[in-house]
Amino acid sequence: MIRLENVSYSYPGGTPALRNINLEIEEGEFLGIIGRNGSGKSTLALHLNGLLRPEKGKVTVRGLDTRDFARLPEIRKLVGIVFQNPETQFVGRTVEEDLAFGPENLCLSPAEIRVRVDRVLAETGLEKYRHRSPKTLSGGQGQCTALAGVLTMEPECLVFDEVTSMLDPGSGTAVLKRIEGLREKGKTIVYVTHNLEELHAADRVIVMEQGKIVREGQPEKLFSDLPGDPGLALPSLIELAAQLRAHGIHVPWEKTRSPETFAEEICRLFSKT
Ligand SMILES: Nc1ncnc2c1ncn2[C@@H]1O[C@H](COP(=O)(O)OP(=O)(O)O)[C@@H](O)[C@H]1O
Ligand SMILES: [Mg+2]
Repeated sequence: MIRLENVSYSYPGGTPALRNINLEIEEGEFLGIIGRNGSGKSTLALHLNGLLRPEKGKVTVRGLDTRDFARLPEIRKLVGIVFQNPETQFVGRTVEEDLAFGPENLCLSPAEIRVRVDRVLAETGLEKYRHRSPKTLSGGQGQCTALAGVLTMEPECLVFDEVTSMLDPGSGTAVLKRIEGLREKGKTIVYVTHNLEELHAADRVIVMEQGKIVREGQPEKLFSDLPGDPGLALPSLIELAAQLRAHGIHVPWEKTRSPETFAEEICRLFSKT
């Protein structure tokens, strides 16, 4: 779906934010990207639909080169990005207008726009807020509106950059569930987070450090490698599993998905001994 070849990028006057990145994102894949603050995750995300273009190397989306300005509208139609801070993305006075903005830019007919907006409002449970100003919504509703704004464009690939980091855990889980649902529909998902716990549904996870990809693998594999890695804030259940492992108690990766599954596993282990 998206290919990065020897991609390097520096912000004006800054140190290199991406250093020689090679990455192939497959059609229908759920790719997780983790790394500490400043490791280049957002810079990489911005390269995926040409919001930033590589200084060296090349990014292609289904073969379309992001340095080719004439192809950017097509690229943006294929790849949509949702950012951490939804307020920066609202353009409409109401939720409904906000959702229509993307398809209007794609020059779709008013009838088609209405169909898409109504469908996405229903799918995301935002119908009751359709006439509200997006700026008056709660964090979770706002993030959901930002996601809905990208969904109306019907992109093939959706990129999420730390979208749950400003939400309370309940709203974060709800947003993550919707994103996992998109994957079931065959969409390609790129999910940037510093929380490995959010990547249970990922097919593959890459770890970034100082603008480079330093590790790559299935989440289960990273789960057993990463604990003890300084600087990566490990979420509580994964950290707890790592601490228990040091004491010879092995809680498998899939059981770290929720406190309930974790507790069940602990009970199971202890009733055996
Ligand atoms: N707009 C910007 N101007 C200058 N430097 C930036 C800008 N955005 C990010 N950087 C720098 O680029 C590096 C990578 O940042 P970023 O991609 O935002 O990392 P992450 O998303 O992993 O926190 C950091 O050193 C950061 O300070
Ligand atoms: Mg970032």
